[in-house]
Amino acid sequence: MLRLGVNIDHVATLRQARYRDNVQAPNAEPDPVAAALIAERAGASGITAHLRADRRHIQDGDIFRLRREITTKLNFEMGNTPEILAIALEVQPADVCLVPENRNEVTTEGGLDCAGQIESLRPTIQKLQAAGIVVSLFIDPDEAQVRASAELGAEFVELHTGAFANALGSDQLAELDRLSTGATLAHELGLRVNAGHGINYENIVLIRSLPHLEELNIGHSIVSRAVFAGLETATREMLALMNP
Ligand code: PXP
Repeated sequence: MLRLGVNIDHVATLRQARYRDNVQAPNAEPDPVAAALIAERAGASGITAHLRADRRHIQDGDIFRLRREITTKLNFEMGNTPEILAIALEVQPADVCLVPENRNEVTTEGGLDCAGQIESLRPTIQKLQAAGIVVSLFIDPDEAQVRASAELGAEFVELHTGAFANALGSDQLAELDRLSTGATLAHELGLRVNAGHGINYENIVLIRSLPHLEELNIGHSIVSRAVFAGLETATREMLALMNP
């Protein structure tokens, strides 16, 4: 069964739109932790949240509350910086997914350049793994990045599905093929395979056929549908499409 990690960053984005200067207010809404508990109730296997250096959506307090209150597992997304690494080691999530972070991007745009950052990633990965945290690397499905992820000793790669999600027609099928080749190579090298970014209620039908997939991390489309259908229904509908 393909597992679903629900990314609740966009719930925090909505809260910050109104309460950025007073997140502690008792009426600060919507609460991303409450969203996580609903997603769990609907069958999510985990909750994903990204504590960005600029704190544009998820706040430190959200991460600690998620760790305490959710009953599945926390997948903590983070850029490779000493500040956020220290927080990850304190929070002790089940999983960390290392992502690139650029202050000007609207959301995570490209995969992590593992091949070009072996030396800076290695100590971070070692510290996380020494603390018992499972490490995933968010990469484009390129051979060099998959090989570098294996060399770095990560347990998982999360294949970046954004290029696939943005492509149309035959270009989309070509991107699907790239993802499939990347997943196959990752598996051959002993890596486990997740995927995420831009997955929605339509393209899931193609994504779910990728080989060796264990978990999808999905945020924007589920939170968008939740505006109309409610989060519990939106999560259940995605799960039903993932595992027909
Ligand atoms: N996986 C990673 C590593 C991400 O950075 C994101 C976006 O925050 C997602 C999954 C979820 O992407 P989306 O919100 O497009 O579903």
